[in-house]
Amino acid sequence: MAQYLDMVGRIHTEQAGSPNVVVPLVQMNALMGFVADALTATIFGLGLPRDVEQTTLRAFQKLLWIQNDLINRHYARA
Ligand code: HEM
Repeated sequence: MAQYLDMVGRIHTEQAGSPNVVVPLVQMNALMGFVADALTATIFGLGLPRDVEQTTLRAFQKLLWIQNDLINRHYARA
């Protein structure tokens, strides 16, 4: 999964997929914010027991920060 998420980040730059598709980092970050919010709303809508709801949300937040890095690293200049 980490390898796939790394490729998802890469494919939005000229380094993978179509070299003509280069999505600016600001839009990648904006969509990550949207996804994080949608995920939070979904988890809150599941009606989970409070402790499970909390641990689920915390786990997904950690995952999203890792995904964020797997996007940003392809935009970093050496
Ligand atoms: C949270 C941020 C984003 C995620 C998680 C995401 C996810 C994905 C995924 C899963 C793919 C296909 C990867 C594959 O073929 O294995 C993809 C490709 C693509 N995405 Fe995104 N995306 C994001 C942001 C954006 C934004 C902001 C745009 C444009 C405004 C965009 C445009 C595209 C395009 C054009 C492709 C095809 C690239 C190519 O084939 O060269 N994506 N994206």
